[in-house]
Amino acid sequence: MHKFDVVVIGAGAAGLFCAGQAGRQGLKVLLVDHSDKVAEKIRISGGGRCNFTNRDATPAQFLSENPHFCRSALSRYTPQDFIELLQRHDIPFHEKHKGQLFCDRSAEDVINMLLAECDAGQVTRWQSCSIKSMFCAEQAGTASYKIESSRGLIEAPQVVIATGGLSIPKIGATDFGYRIAKQFGLRLVEPRAALVPLTFEGDSWAPYAQLAGLALPVKIETGPPDATPKQRKKAVVFSEDLLFTHRGLSGPAVLQISSFWREGQPVRVNLAPGTDLSALLLRAKATSRKLIANELASLVPSRLADAWVSEDPALQRPISDATDKALQALAQRLGDWQLTPNGSEGYKKAEVTVGGVDTRDLSSQTMESKQPGLYFIGEVVDVTGWLGGYNFQWAWASGFACAQAL
Ligand code: FDA
Repeated sequence: MHKFDVVVIGAGAAGLFCAGQAGRQGLKVLLVDHSDKVAEKIRISGGGRCNFTNRDATPAQFLSENPHFCRSALSRYTPQDFIELLQRHDIPFHEKHKGQLFCDRSAEDVINMLLAECDAGQVTRWQSCSIKSMFCAEQAGTASYKIESSRGLIEAPQVVIATGGLSIPKIGATDFGYRIAKQFGLRLVEPRAALVPLTFEGDSWAPYAQLAGLALPVKIETGPPDATPKQRKKAVVFSEDLLFTHRGLSGPAVLQISSFWREGQPVRVNLAPGTDLSALLLRAKATSRKLIANELASLVPSRLADAWVSEDPALQRPISDATDKALQALAQRLGDWQLTPNGSEGYKKAEVTVGGVDTRDLSSQTMESKQPGLYFIGEVVDVTGWLGGYNFQWAWASGFACAQAL
């Protein structure tokens, strides 16, 4: 029987950070992961440079059934705290876009730093080690967890589940955390793939498939098909780049909106944000004899202009011959392109999972669940950040809050 003060299951971002913090507090910590590789998601994140936080992170950039849940942890461990940790480890970084901070060299820097923190806290790490079962027996009024693992029986009064969400199963994602939550009677918010490309039905997508590879800045939102102007005013709108793919839409704009998108709902895209297309086309009509496609190509990327106009014979003519109504309709459609995805690329491409362990069954101060001595941190919890370093900030902040309470 191996006895520890705390067992952390999952050596990803949240688990490594929490284990290091707890070890540094003097606790005897065991960190286990079923994979023989450590923190694979950190390694592949941010194109290999890990967008490890966002300077401007606030609770407003997180999705959860309870949007207030993340407040306490985020305020007690801020982006600046993580920046100072990197600086203590002499890790160079830079800001790329909208507060997003990346390593100058590689994501390995963050992994090595977290491992060094674990070493400083004398954390024992077992990889690979799989968990076969976990039970809780009460001993003198306190919880005692017995964990049957591939490296023998483990006993600890406290267990932290940091096994993440379901995205990218091929690098080790499992539903372990959700199964443990269910085993101990905790509620789950239905998980779904998020920060993920959206797909469209083959025939309806055929005219746009030729645009694969085209990227352009857009405004994007989603909501019910029959959304009222009031509902649309309240909708979250992202201004980011959109990328056409053979099967649908991707790029930061679409990844962001995918977290909000629900099956059956349309996405609405303004393909020419900041431009009064209708006025510009009507002005061109008065002065130009160019084809509509050519005029349009001065306002949006020419491949997009060509594809758009080729769909409608009425638009294949000089702009001076077009009716005002046709030009206004063209501008309206480009400015409010509504299309309904038939799904997403799913967990194999998703960066994160929305949903997870229901925050109603967790303490926002400590991440302890209603089951005494059992904690959940990181992505396994129903707290999901936008694209841009927010998910790692949640991993650090929830891991810190938990470690403080152990
Ligand atoms: P994480 O997934 O990191 O770790 C979970 C660990 O648990 C893994 O090591 C896994 O092997 C282990 N595990 C799973 N099941 C187990 C079991 N049954 N038994 C034992 N161990 C088990 N975020 C961000 O803020 N900035 C970014 O740049 C990116 N980039 C990015 C790119 C890509 C391609 C992906 C897929 C994701 C991102 N993310 C991101 C999201 C970010 O990686 C993610 O939110 C965090 O890694 C979540 O940290 P966790 O520790 O909760 O889970």
